[in-house]
Amino acid sequence: MIHTLTLNPAIDRILYLNHFEKNVTNRIRETLDTIGGKGTHVSINLKLLGQDNTAFGICHGQNGLRVINMLKEYGIHVQFQHYTDSSRETRTNYLLIEDTTDCTIAAESGVRLEEAELSDLLEMMGQVICPGDYLIFSGDASNSPDPSIYNRILHTFKDRDLRIFLDTSGKSLKECIQEAPYMIKPNLDELSTLAGYAVPNNDDSIIKAIRSLDPYGVEVIAVSLGGDGSIVKTADGFYRVHPPKVDVHNTIGCGDCFLAGFVYGTANGYGTEDILRIATAVSAATAESNISVGYNLSRALELKSMVTIEKIK
Ligand SMILES: Nc1ncnc2c1ncn2[C@@H]1O[C@H](COP(=O)(O)OP(=O)(O)OP(=O)(O)O)[C@@H](O)[C@H]1O
Ligand SMILES: [Mg+2]
Repeated sequence: MIHTLTLNPAIDRILYLNHFEKNVTNRIRETLDTIGGKGTHVSINLKLLGQDNTAFGICHGQNGLRVINMLKEYGIHVQFQHYTDSSRETRTNYLLIEDTTDCTIAAESGVRLEEAELSDLLEMMGQVICPGDYLIFSGDASNSPDPSIYNRILHTFKDRDLRIFLDTSGKSLKECIQEAPYMIKPNLDELSTLAGYAVPNNDDSIIKAIRSLDPYGVEVIAVSLGGDGSIVKTADGFYRVHPPKVDVHNTIGCGDCFLAGFVYGTANGYGTEDILRIATAVSAATAESNISVGYNLSRALELKSMVTIEKIK
């Protein structure tokens, strides 16, 4: 079974406006509430590919209930600890999308979790997770009282031989890579965090930075480069992947979708090139869509043949 974890879910309120300007009253044309939090997005993107999965998480109040219901509407197995016993509310993020497709985000920091809530979560996860399962850690864990929460989860379930996919940033990325996850998906900023210097955006520099991470023993390192595609280290070498040219509407969440496609291909026994092809096609389809989660599956399947992959080392 495949599981995602979202420690800091959100309601993403999308505000569509013609043009956003500072220091004036901006008129909103249309408002749309969607689900936020990277783990939930990976769960939804997997489900859109037809892949059953469980979403673990912690949420609060009315917004928390909405998050749970939105996940259930997709047919995802929802395993969220939901607390209603205080005034705490799962956060709302505001996404301002202009006609030009420029997007500005104002994000709340989210509910500060309590130690007891983390213990409840670990207990619940312990009842659901089976040996050999896939576990996806997405998003930073800065609202956790324990900054090493991902490491703690891995230590707790050490005996279950889980396959870990890690897509986070900052401190949680630096900490969790020490546990040798199966795969990480840094963008260039996140790769720079790991390498300890600003990695220049060219293939040779990126490959050098990836190689500098060899001591961590991570089998797959997929460095995503937005519209420039990705450079991916796998057990059988390095690949340069070029996405198809698409009519871009909103690239937020492309990384989550790339990860979902990668997990889907891996779980279904695809070879490396086919894994990269599906991951790149679904994330390009996400760039074409103007909402922050989801994509058109038939369009994604059509885009598969337009992905180019070179084995480079
Ligand atoms: N403009 C684009 N056109 C086609 N494909 C894209 C575009 N932007 C992103 N992608 C695809 O999505 C993948 C992941 O995107 P990106 O590198 O922006 O991830 P990210 O920075 O982690 O994003 P996020 O954290 O917001 O999800 C890229 O490797 C690429 O395959
Ligand atoms: Mg990302």
